[in-house]
Amino acid sequence: MSLKKISYLSLFPGMIDQGLAHSLVGKARAAGAIDLHFVQVRDFATDKHRSVDDTPYGGGAGMLLRADVLFQAWNSLTSLEEKSSASPSRPYTVLLSPQGRPLTQDLARDWVLTHEHLIFVCGHYEGVDERFIEACVDEELSIGDYVLTGGEFAAVVASDVLIRLIPGVVGNSESVSRDSLEGNLLKSPQYTRPSEFLGKKVPDVLLSGNHAKIEAWRKDESERRTKLKRPDLYAKYEAGKKLRS
Ligand code: ADE
Repeated sequence: MSLKKISYLSLFPGMIDQGLAHSLVGKARAAGAIDLHFVQVRDFATDKHRSVDDTPYGGGAGMLLRADVLFQAWNSLTSLEEKSSASPSRPYTVLLSPQGRPLTQDLARDWVLTHEHLIFVCGHYEGVDERFIEACVDEELSIGDYVLTGGEFAAVVASDVLIRLIPGVVGNSESVSRDSLEGNLLKSPQYTRPSEFLGKKVPDVLLSGNHAKIEAWRKDESERRTKLKRPDLYAKYEAGKKLRS
């Protein structure tokens, strides 16, 4: 099983659609490797002003997205029976929020393997009525310790990370396994033509044609860079190495 569909509940679905219309992700959509489905939350408003938000009970700044409107939008995608089933194709509902679990490459790899259909709920304004979260959300996801004006850009970031991990989306599976962060190591430096630029030459080993030597050089450089730039990741890499040996 692997990820086939992502649905988005949003007040600004065009932001997400456009953000995921280009390059490899755009091609993956055109080729049918992933199906993206957009739901305009405002279509489920019931009053004559089509309002989707209201002031918080107890006072406080800003507006909150209403649970009833979001629920109707969510319900248009998934029935309660489907939601409570144990089937692997059960949609998994994720609220983008700075309070969520941090997005990592490991988490993305896990979700691509374990969910066929993800529903991303994009909050806006000051947040979402807690009763919607309790009733419908399986997990909250954060893309970092900062606050965006809404979940749309976070949904684009998370979708991009997920879609490029779907088998076949990145042409050469070696590129995915050589990614920065795969195995908790950063990528080694890379070079293309010209072989000399501003007086700087490409390292000789890369022109040697000796694949074993090139691999060894890349591994050394990856370790050196990770130790220098991301000591936190390097500690994880070392711990993983100890476990494997
Ligand atoms: N919505 C607002 N800020 C966010 C963040 N950092 N991650 C995910 N969703 C968000």
